[in-house]
Amino acid sequence: MTPDRYAVVGNPIGHSLSPRIHALFAEQTGQHLVYEARLGRPEHFAEDVREWFREGLRGLNVTVPFKEEAFRLVDQHSRRAGRAGAVNTIWIEADGLLTGDNTDGAGFLRDLTQRLGFDPGGRAILILGAGGATRGLLEPLLGAAPARLVIANRTPEKARGLQQDFADLARGARLEASGLEDMPAGPYDLVINATAAGLGSGGLALPPALLGASGIAYDLVYGPAARRFLEWAGAQGAATVTDGLGMLVEQAAEAFAIWRGVRPETAPVLAAIRDTAGIG
Ligand code: ATR
Repeated sequence: MTPDRYAVVGNPIGHSLSPRIHALFAEQTGQHLVYEARLGRPEHFAEDVREWFREGLRGLNVTVPFKEEAFRLVDQHSRRAGRAGAVNTIWIEADGLLTGDNTDGAGFLRDLTQRLGFDPGGRAILILGAGGATRGLLEPLLGAAPARLVIANRTPEKARGLQQDFADLARGARLEASGLEDMPAGPYDLVINATAAGLGSGGLALPPALLGASGIAYDLVYGPAARRFLEWAGAQGAATVTDGLGMLVEQAAEAFAIWRGVRPETAPVLAAIRDTAGIG
């Protein structure tokens, strides 16, 4: 029997860890499938994706820079993809409709709660950045009922835009927005770097005392791109610093569960990926 085909599309895509992650999931759960990386063509994204599904592709993950375009391309989408305004997981329903979901936020929350043992309930959280990545985190984070959630962004108007868009989900939480220069003082229990910038020259300049003594610093990216933020957090005395590799594995597990109806164990896969990718 020919295996079911899956893929991830992005540009660039050469260093994507998704094929390895999904191969490990398939092996672990005994699922018969292949998963490959495909280079997306900016001018032809929608037509390429539709063609791939016509050719029999069963599911597609979408990464930078196509998540918003994927959101516009699908015939229908989940509620959480609607909130994020972005799609990272596509499949085709029996009626032929291309369907989109966004598993990034759920993957982030699962990594935070399961691996790091952090319950956002009643805590103070600071998110740096107000782009697509932040938009994807707000629904699950607010759903976990923090006491306070501050969005700080270089362009404060964008932070305020998100504050307005998500005000209806804030319930008891104080949802605030600011610029990077006038951030409300800490300490925060969790500081998330969701900007496209590292720290230092041309990057972020952060005030001291943002992190509480048992605080967690979480960079959504992984590898060298996360290094400066995590070093800064370590120097500030953060109890835990982590890059986004755990989130990457968790969002993949969520996609795999949607496609295959089985949820893989993520801890052994995260350990294997850290080893082979040489990402400490
Ligand atoms: P993503 O989908 O990864 O969130 P994005 O939508 O392009 O990407 O958003 C990038 C984020 O990084 C934005 O919050 C951006 O700030 P602006 O809204 O002011 O552009 C932030 N960012 C990028 N470069 C930055 C820098 N050098 N310093 C501070 N913030 C930066």
